[in-house]
Amino acid sequence: MPSDATADLFAKAPWNGVSDDDLAPAAHVPTMISPDERRLYFWLAAHWATGAGALVDLGCFAGGSTARLAAGQHAAGRAAPIHAYDRFTADEKVKRRVLYSGGVAPFDGNDILPLARRLLAPWQGCISFHPGEIEDNGWPGGPIEILALDACKSTAATDAIAGAFFPHLVAGRSVVVHQDFLHWSQPWLPAQMELLAEYFTPLAHCPPSSLVYLCTAAPDAAALAAARTDTLSDDALVGLVDGARTRLSGIAPKAPFARMEAGLAANPGERIAWRFRKPAKTQ
Ligand SMILES: C[S@@+](CC[C@H](N)C(=O)[O-])C[C@H]1O[C@@H](n2cnc3c(N)ncnc32)[C@H](O)[C@@H]1O
Repeated sequence: MPSDATADLFAKAPWNGVSDDDLAPAAHVPTMISPDERRLYFWLAAHWATGAGALVDLGCFAGGSTARLAAGQHAAGRAAPIHAYDRFTADEKVKRRVLYSGGVAPFDGNDILPLARRLLAPWQGCISFHPGEIEDNGWPGGPIEILALDACKSTAATDAIAGAFFPHLVAGRSVVVHQDFLHWSQPWLPAQMELLAEYFTPLAHCPPSSLVYLCTAAPDAAALAAARTDTLSDDALVGLVDGARTRLSGIAPKAPFARMEAGLAANPGERIAWRFRKPAKTQ
């Protein structure tokens, strides 16, 4: 369990006090995360992190979330290692929607690694890039203090990421940000955290869809094998989503859980988020 002080701190959403001036050093980096989430990432790196481990960003795209972590820890005078993982590719549609609209000059090709390196150059001394599939790259080792997850887009990736990174979390200190936790097309995220409830305690919801968890004990390989989502039936997933709705009562809104269940009913057996077809009642 988190201490009362930790639970009270996160319940107050103190990241809402992060100002545009605070975020200004990262403002040049386009991002898909919401304004609330930008403040959360900055605050976690500036005010929660202590230097007890690395800051790890799984699914950083062009570095938008990484930049908010880097700016936060820089503001706090720390320089812990930051690890940015992504395929670092973008098609024309995403380039137009996120990058060009965010001030990046048009460029040829799908490779955004050079762009990410350029955008994150102000903090280059502490950032390591891990291009490719996260499942293939894994974790080089050492404690992780903040783990941002935005790449759990299938049950297979969710299980592989948990297996590689969760054992390196520090009990009572490490925070996991599950981006897209409340999205209707990823019911395996609440299911996973429900299966790992002995190891993680929910601290806060950050709109629109992120959940922040405190690691209370680092799960070992056996615990992670027992918490695999890839082998769950649709009925088992629905049961765990129900459990998460109850456990998160008072922290997260209830409506997204009904949307997850509707999403699963409309896409039986599907375990890859981008293949989910939107059910009529969620439109
Ligand atoms: C929603 S975007 C992340 C947005 C980013 N955090 C930001 O601030 O703009 C999700 C990212 O995860 C990456 N991703 C998803 N699955 C992945 C995987 N298995 N391995 C590597 N990258 C992955 C995608 O390439 C994409 O850039």
